[in-house]
Amino acid sequence: MKNFKYYAPTKVMFGKDTENKVADLVKEFGGTKVLLHYGGQSAEKSGLLGKVEASLQDAGIAYVKLGGVVPNPRVSKVREGIELCKQEGIDFLLAVGGGSVIDSCKAISSGRYFEGDVWDLYLKKAHATQYMPIGCILTIPAAGSEMSDGSVITNEEGWLKKDYCVDEFRCKFAIMNPEYTCTLPAWQTACGVTDMMMHTFERYFSVDDDMEVTDSIAEALLRTIMVEAHKVMKNPNDYDSRAQIMWAGSLAHNDLTGCGTTGDWATHNLEHELSGMFDVSHGAGLAALWGSWARYTRGENMNRFARFAVNVMGVPLMSQTTEELAEAGIQAMEAFFQSIGMPTNIHDLIGRDITDAEIEEMADKCSNGGTSTIGGLMELKRDDMVNIYKMAK
Ligand code: NZQ
Ligand code: ZN
Repeated sequence: MKNFKYYAPTKVMFGKDTENKVADLVKEFGGTKVLLHYGGQSAEKSGLLGKVEASLQDAGIAYVKLGGVVPNPRVSKVREGIELCKQEGIDFLLAVGGGSVIDSCKAISSGRYFEGDVWDLYLKKAHATQYMPIGCILTIPAAGSEMSDGSVITNEEGWLKKDYCVDEFRCKFAIMNPEYTCTLPAWQTACGVTDMMMHTFERYFSVDDDMEVTDSIAEALLRTIMVEAHKVMKNPNDYDSRAQIMWAGSLAHNDLTGCGTTGDWATHNLEHELSGMFDVSHGAGLAALWGSWARYTRGENMNRFARFAVNVMGVPLMSQTTEELAEAGIQAMEAFFQSIGMPTNIHDLIGRDITDAEIEEMADKCSNGGTSTIGGLMELKRDDMVNIYKMAK
């Protein structure tokens, strides 16, 4: 097993009524004036936002509201948040929403004390040394940002989507009440399920083969997510299934399934160009690309894809070759994506054919003009990226 660091410092409050703990938690982590950051409509409609405001008021904690975070959160909103924090003397960031709201908070956290423009951090031109503390109330299990070290932000100028990852981005606390996820439309539920499965895949499909504990945890998570996803598709108000999925989403991206593996992350990198350019849901973009990535790279560790087919997708062992098993596993995975309404190619994702020029542009952005590569299972150069996008057309 490879050496690893495992750092998951987020205090998790999971279950019904846990949102009632918000004021105590803000105080516990030193917050005296809060930026209450949220998205479009959902947190207001569900009554969660009102409940949070009442809790803060009752506890005598001052707050300023900043809503309007959109999926694929924009750097312009982040800059607005940074200015607000400076003007208002805010010392704690509270995200109420999904990955987009949490990531926007993380970006504000890094930009608050940074002397330059926050986007330079995402371009890796600079590194912030001081960060604001963040807490969150999660309303959609998907991105795993509630326990991850990452933040992904989109710059409207050029439609670039970039990540910035530091341990300081790990939330101080994450409140997760699965009841609030029952209002998720089927599409968002499916996008979330896909994203959390992909967070597990990105660590599972690697060149390594000697991390049995980690592999077994990953396989159990993947099987559980698929079973529970079908249940919530049938019954969106199934609390227990919503709860399994919500916790699985956090475990899929708090590095538990990465202990001792080198990981891959190519599908995520390829996808960020799709959602950056076409403003599609991240989870759906991943589903559209994964099968093509898997077929392109599986030769690097065919045994692992065969193991996945048997242990996760339940492909019966007969007299298949390793490659036949691997292909059967990939096909079964694509069939699962389709069963929950996810696209398995770019045409179905964006509703039209993608042009060769668009593919070249995405490959250019993803490879920083051909100067960098992605992927741990197979190192992908710019031409490989073009090939995979074309396979996924
Ligand atoms: O804006 P509102 O009205 O709240 O609607 C949201 C949004 O339209 C809606 N929603 C959220 N909770 C709801 C709800 N609708 C009904 N009921 C609820 N309870 O769902 C829509 C999507 O929300 P968003 O936050 O965008 O979803 P998600 O959590 O999937 O986040 C996606 C973003 O996270 C990034 C993605 O690239 C994307 O930008 N990622 C962040 C990662 C990280 N920080 O570690 C890792 C991931 O790989 C990912 O890249
Ligand atoms: Zn993801």
